[in-house]
Amino acid sequence: MSKRVLVTGGAGYIGSHVAVELLHAGHEVVIVDNYVNSSPPAITAIEAAAGQSVTTIEGDVGDRDLMLVTLDGVDAVVHMAALKAVGESVEKPLAYYHNNIGGLVTLLDAMAEAEVFQFVFSSSATVYGDAKEVPIPETAPLSATNPYGQTKLMAEQILRDVAISDDRWSILALRYFNPVGAHPSGIISEAPKGKPNNLMPAVMAAARGDLDKVMVFGDDYDTPDGTGMRDYIHVMDLASGHVAAIDGLDSRQGFDAYNLGLGSGVSVLELIAAAERASGQTIPREIVDRRPGDVAASVADPSRAQTELGWTATYTVDQACEDNWRSQER
Ligand SMILES: NC(=O)c1ccc[n+]([C@@H]2O[C@H](COP(=O)([O-])OP(=O)(O)OC[C@H]3O[C@@H](n4cnc5c(N)ncnc54)[C@H](O)[C@@H]3O)[C@@H](O)[C@H]2O)c1
Repeated sequence: MSKRVLVTGGAGYIGSHVAVELLHAGHEVVIVDNYVNSSPPAITAIEAAAGQSVTTIEGDVGDRDLMLVTLDGVDAVVHMAALKAVGESVEKPLAYYHNNIGGLVTLLDAMAEAEVFQFVFSSSATVYGDAKEVPIPETAPLSATNPYGQTKLMAEQILRDVAISDDRWSILALRYFNPVGAHPSGIISEAPKGKPNNLMPAVMAAARGDLDKVMVFGDDYDTPDGTGMRDYIHVMDLASGHVAAIDGLDSRQGFDAYNLGLGSGVSVLELIAAAERASGQTIPREIVDRRPGDVAASVADPSRAQTELGWTATYTVDQACEDNWRSQER
């Protein structure tokens, strides 16, 4: 069934890919974004990649009146608008709680008033803290090691409580592992404001020559080459996971959480090697001390999403690096 889907943070890195895939699946998309970490050309890129137009509203999810107007005629919400830099969240915890928790509560409140009860939330593997069991199942203990992670943990708890309070709610939290890659057309790219915080943007910047070298934080972890291992999931796979979630909301009620990952780990050095193959460039790197709060390995057990949402990741890390590189070349 075709739905009108409100995508908050839809001009951002993951949101723009989700918007394109929702449009391709036949849904109508409305985007709300305040451009705190994106800019209007992202909307033009979404429209070019999808070959369709989207209704876009510049504004903040914390603006209840704006949300009420925006929710008119909406069937479901994908809530991606959030601040996401771990280090910054340690320096400015109140900005993170205000934006990520305040924004969520206001949005849910407006949704209840507008009687829109279908909700997909951008959660993160960060809710597993330093997981003891790898691959990590959804049943693993939850914890947070920084204010950003706390906002995801608290948000999931708020969503659980809201789902219990009224059985009309159908809520899915998607716990992303490490999103990488770009739209294969090269039309959409990751264009955050400021310094890259994640490994892939840093690796690509070093391949372009815009960054002297990639810092590798620790090579003495208990992993095959000593560097941290992550489950890098292509943003197109994440996007199809959201389409599966939107389609699955009708047949369920309450709150559920799903891992979105490949189920296999790639080390920092392996990712740099894949980026070198994709770009044809040598990427300088420097091994430095471990970074506080980093875990040795974070790999998803994605079987629940495979069985219950009918979703499986299909892109490889090499494809992700090629797509990232192509999007940089434009
Ligand atoms: N990228 C990752 O590694 C990762 C991993 C796990 C989870 N997530 C989550 O996925 C979501 C999307 O992440 P992303 O990587 O695309 O980040 P992003 O910064 O590219 O996108 C977030 C978008 O939300 C907008 N935004 C932020 N606060 C807003 C507000 N109050 N009102 C309106 N718009 C607002 C920003 O301008 C931006 O366009 C976030 O919730 C993030 O926490 C990201």
